[in-house]
Amino acid sequence: MFGKRFLFVMTVMLLAAQVFTGCAAPAPAPSGGQAAPAGGEAAAPASGGKLEVFSWWTSGGEAAALQALFDAYSAQYPDVEIINATVAGGGGSAARGVLQTRLAGGDVPDTWQVHPGFELIGQYVEPGYVEPVTDLYEAEGWNDVVPEALRTMMTKDGEIYQVTVGVHRGNGFWYNKQLLADNGIEVGDTLSVDEFIAIADQLKAAGVTPLCVGDSGIWATAQLFENTLLGAIGPEAYNGLWDGSTRFDDPGVKQAMETYGKMLEYQNEDHSALSWDQAVKKLMEGGCAFNSMGDWAYGEFVNAGLTDNVEFGWVSHPGTAGSFMIVADGFPIGKGSANPENARNWLKVIGSKEAQEAFNPLKGSICARTDCDRAKFGVYHNWSMDSFANDALVPSVVHGSAAPADFQQALNDAVTVFVVDKNVDAFANALVAAAQSSGFGK
Ligand code: BGC
Repeated sequence: MFGKRFLFVMTVMLLAAQVFTGCAAPAPAPSGGQAAPAGGEAAAPASGGKLEVFSWWTSGGEAAALQALFDAYSAQYPDVEIINATVAGGGGSAARGVLQTRLAGGDVPDTWQVHPGFELIGQYVEPGYVEPVTDLYEAEGWNDVVPEALRTMMTKDGEIYQVTVGVHRGNGFWYNKQLLADNGIEVGDTLSVDEFIAIADQLKAAGVTPLCVGDSGIWATAQLFENTLLGAIGPEAYNGLWDGSTRFDDPGVKQAMETYGKMLEYQNEDHSALSWDQAVKKLMEGGCAFNSMGDWAYGEFVNAGLTDNVEFGWVSHPGTAGSFMIVADGFPIGKGSANPENARNWLKVIGSKEAQEAFNPLKGSICARTDCDRAKFGVYHNWSMDSFANDALVPSVVHGSAAPADFQQALNDAVTVFVVDKNVDAFANALVAAAQSSGFGK
């Protein structure tokens, strides 16, 4: 087990080391001497029937982006009825449990949303719930346009099990430009923790809520901690958490816990009544200044008709400039599902350049392929693509890639306790114990 966990961390570090240019780079020449086809295999004849797509994409921005994928699919397979099986709850907090129950009961969706890394391999590949799609990568020319290290995160024993449609940047820090301008505040290209605290104190004194949090799902505040942790200890030590070379009671980790506790003092009073997207909405409406969130928040801004760098701005979560927290989304084919051929065609569509260029501008993520056209993306996306190409890449534990599900759950539990008691030592000890019991902590 240890070896496998280490492999994922190494994979992400390898991603960082590769010349990995997001959507910017021209596709390398395909090995077969042929241009990678947009649609690879000839489109299968419309077979009719149904396609059940299971996800947690229910917020305004998420639903709009998902619809772009459905539109791309329906354009090629108009006779297939799409069943949009969603379970609300950001981060998949509710969906994953529902899915496990369905899978265990043999009620297998044709395809479902999944993060690469531990979530894909541990929860779906190892129990035998998904089909390999390695041949699709060959037929569609994806081995030439999907970075090898990303493919490695979706691979077990030489077989690939997922098609990734987009790569989110988890460590975003979004802000309401007008509200800051009204208070005489301008945010530069980066923001340190100390700079944020100075701004937050100024805002608080002026009666403005500095930080919007929507943690009706505990994952959202766990992510605030995850981002703060990355900022406090940096990407190398952060990656070391997942192979035991950094301990969770390291002084840097404890400092992150102190800072996280401090940040909670700046949050909105109604944080636990709001979902993540309601918190973004509150920011848009001027109810608070900043929000720490993955760039699915971008999807909410665009869905509300707002423009990059006009109504909203962004910077890396305080202290995390130079790092890109990977939160990638993809889909597999459910083994034993009712419509595997339709699911296979779904994967062919969402793996295509065209579908990824339609989906990602609405979702906030960047393409999982290296050949998307930058001109089809706005200011934020181009910034994120540069970050992906140049920054240290780190996996998210809150979104399933860095550590197994039991540790993810233990982190949520420890955060739930910490937000009430603010006991740093107890928080650190809980995570040390959880890492040991998950097999990677020392
Ligand atoms: C997913 C995103 C989604 C976010 C909020 C993350 O786990 O990767 O696609 O928008 O959760 O629901």
